[in-house]
Amino acid sequence: MTFPDRRPRRLRRTAALRRLVAETRLGVDDLVAPLFVREGIAGPQPIESLPGVVQHTRTSLVDEVAELVDLGLPAVILFGVPERKDPEGRGASDPDGIVQVALRDLRDRFGDQIVLMADLCLDEYTDHGHCGLLTSGGEVDNDATVERYAEVALAQAAAGVDVCAPSGMMDGQVEAIRDALDAEGADDVAILAYSAKYASALYGPFRDAVDVEIVGGGDRKGYQQDWANARESLEEIRLDVLEGADMVMVKPALTYLDVVTRARAEFDVPLAAYHVSGEYAMVHAAAERGWIDGDAVALEQITAIKRAGADFVLTYFARSLAERLQ
Ligand code: PBG
Repeated sequence: MTFPDRRPRRLRRTAALRRLVAETRLGVDDLVAPLFVREGIAGPQPIESLPGVVQHTRTSLVDEVAELVDLGLPAVILFGVPERKDPEGRGASDPDGIVQVALRDLRDRFGDQIVLMADLCLDEYTDHGHCGLLTSGGEVDNDATVERYAEVALAQAAAGVDVCAPSGMMDGQVEAIRDALDAEGADDVAILAYSAKYASALYGPFRDAVDVEIVGGGDRKGYQQDWANARESLEEIRLDVLEGADMVMVKPALTYLDVVTRARAEFDVPLAAYHVSGEYAMVHAAAERGWIDGDAVALEQITAIKRAGADFVLTYFARSLAERLQ
C-alpha cells in the first residue's frame, strides 16, 4: 500500500502551524455582552440558572461596562427588569424607565467608547409576559404592538441608544421603528433586527433573568418561528432588510447554524447570532458536573458560530472570552 502525498496532518503538527492556517479567528471584536439591569434593587442579584450573570443595579451596571470597555468589547445589549409590570408594558417607553436611565448613565460615562444596544420588546414589562399587547380575546395584537414598539424606540433614542434591537417578531416592526426614528430626527440610530427568531425552548434561563412568566402557561409559537423551518428565516430577513434593518440576527445560534450559513450567503448586511441563555446554561451545568471542560466548549461553540457565517455573537460568555482572548 502506498500512502498519499497529500497529508493534511502536516499543517496540524504545531500550535504555530495551526494558528497560521486557522480559517476562523475569534476576537474580542466579535463579542457582544447581554446585560440585565433591574429597577429597585439594592445590590446585584445573581441569576440561578445563569451562573456568573447578574441582574445589575444602575451602579453595578456602570462598573461592569467600565470593565468591558477596558477589555475592548465593542458593544453591549441591555435588557431591563422593571419594578412594576402592566398590560401595556409602559415601563418600556417611560423616559424614566430602567433601560432609559441606564442608557443615560452609560452614555454620560462612556461617550462613544462602546456601542450601546437595547433590546426592544415588551415582554419584560408586561404583566402577562407576552411580547405585545393583547386583544380582549387574549391574542397578541400585531399592529397595536408595533405602534408601542415605535414609542419604545423613541424613548431609547432620546436616552442615547446607538442600536435598537427589536426582538418581538411582529410583522412590520422594523419599518414602524425606522419611520418613527426618522420622523423624530433620530436617523442615526441603527436597527439590529432579531429577524430569524425561533420559538425555542432555550430561552428558559433568560425568563428567570427578567422575571417573565407567560400567563396561563402560554408560549410564543404564534409569533416566533417554528424550529422546522429554515427558508422562512430567509423570508423574514429579506423583509427586515427591505423595511430598513441595518443588521440582522439569527437566534438561537447552535441549533440554527444552517440558517446562519444560508443567511450569510444570501444577504450582505452584518449578521449577528445570539448564543442564548439555555445554550450558556447547558455548558455551565455540564462543566459543573465535571462532564465537559466548560471553557474549551465555550470557545469551540462561539468560534463555530463565527465559522458558520456570523459577523458577531451575542453571548453570556463575552466577558470570560474577552479575558481569555486578550
Ligand atoms: C424578548 C427576548 C428573549 C430573549 C431575548 N429577547 C426572550 C423570549 O423571546 O422569550 C432570549 C435571550 C436568551 O435566552 O438568552 N425580549
